Amino acid sequence: MTSSKSKKNVSIDLGHKCIELPRLSGSIGPDVIDIRKLYNNSDLFTFDPGFTSTASCESAITFIDGDKGTLLYRGYSIEELAQKSNYLEVCYLLLYGVLPKKDELLNFTQRVTRHTMLHEQMIYFFRGFRRDAHPMAIICGVQGAMSSFYHDSLDINDPWQREVASIRMIAKLPTIVAYAYKYSTGQPFVYPDNSLDYAENFLYMCFSVPSEKYVPNSILAKAMDRIFLLHADHEQNASTSTVRLAGSSGANPFACIAAGIACLWGPAHGGANEACLDMLKEIGTVDKIPKYINRAKDKNDPFRLMGFGHRVYKSFDPRSKVMKESADEVLNLLGVENNSILKVAKELERIALEDDYFIEKKLYPNVDFYSGIILEAMGFSTSMFTPIFALARTVGWISHWMEMLSDPNQKIGRPRQLYTGPAYNSYIKIDER
Ligand code: SDX
Repeated sequence: MTSSKSKKNVSIDLGHKCIELPRLSGSIGPDVIDIRKLYNNSDLFTFDPGFTSTASCESAITFIDGDKGTLLYRGYSIEELAQKSNYLEVCYLLLYGVLPKKDELLNFTQRVTRHTMLHEQMIYFFRGFRRDAHPMAIICGVQGAMSSFYHDSLDINDPWQREVASIRMIAKLPTIVAYAYKYSTGQPFVYPDNSLDYAENFLYMCFSVPSEKYVPNSILAKAMDRIFLLHADHEQNASTSTVRLAGSSGANPFACIAAGIACLWGPAHGGANEACLDMLKEIGTVDKIPKYINRAKDKNDPFRLMGFGHRVYKSFDPRSKVMKESADEVLNLLGVENNSILKVAKELERIALEDDYFIEKKLYPNVDFYSGIILEAMGFSTSMFTPIFALARTVGWISHWMEMLSDPNQKIGRPRQLYTGPAYNSYIKIDER
């Protein structure tokens, strides 16, 4: 990782004294003020709930320019990767920092393929859940339980064990997610088929049944692979920051990724694709859109347009542009281009992009806006959308976890606070209260 470079210091006038803090530059993007010595030199903390102006780490994996709508994986634009690459090649790029040569990609693909099966005894975990359990509850539990099976890849200080744990999770998350889907439908689990590629195998495990032959449709498999690729990583988002924080305590890799899955579940984050589709269904028809737009504008109404807005993108989310192309391909293939949900989505997008409120607030469709439409058209239940997001993001979480462990500045994450509670209460006996 090319480390940051120091530039001219920043002076901070504290009133009673001035202190100098280093200003650091990365390769692209905003400089940072290095405040590591601030508290020791001033008895002051910084205050930044939600970390809107705080860089938590150095990273060389993904770069986002929210104003320009730029997303780079190891310097390669998401648009170019979506057009020319595929998910497993992008996994290699995110993990190792370079595009693989042909033999490297073949070896990586073979290693992932040979780890797709779960330990047979793990199947009992699924049976412990109600059939109507949310699949995120299942995958969060089963992912964490992997640490009780793979004792030979728990030592975070052993590079070989870190690598094996990473390959296992990239390989097994599709199986875990597919099993959770099958369990919710009451159909038997379908073992991985190693003759299929990553996306084809996922569709096969989800949609094939023992009683019939199933050949994954190549257009659907390409769309699935593209959804995985577009969701693979996204800098220091909430779930990735959760994985980094869990990893900073030395927790095992399976537990760290389970923590990331738990955080992603929220509707403000990875749960937005499920919430977005539920919202589009609630709107139902184009003529009802204005009512919901007014609700979104109403300060007293907690309703938000799911699939719109982003903490970083204050222009379009480049992923949603690519996702929209896939949505058109899939819906045309399935003959559902007149899908009423899609009509509502496209009209909602048109209005939102012209409406002064959304323009002023810089609210554009994000990655979750179109992914749900594609997944629903493929036949997935809405509760499966976030598990699929988690499957795809696992490689991003692992890449950041690996980077964090190899960072010489790495220490346990432990933020401070601005305390506003009572000071120095004395204990009062219960009879005197
Ligand atoms: C993901 O971080 C990542 O990178 C995440 C992600 C990834 O790949 O990991 O990109 C994936 O999580 C995408 C985002 C999915 N979430 C949603 O679609 C849920 C709906 N969106 C919002 O909840 C919201 O936009 C957030 C949470 C995404 C961003 O919230 P911010 O940056 O904290 O913005 P904010 O809440 O401060 O909103 C700014 C203003 C507010 O109005 P004011 O208080 O300034 O008057 O915009 C308004 C908000 O009320 N606003 C919305 C809105 N989102 C923000 N108004 C209506 N509808 C919305 N969707």
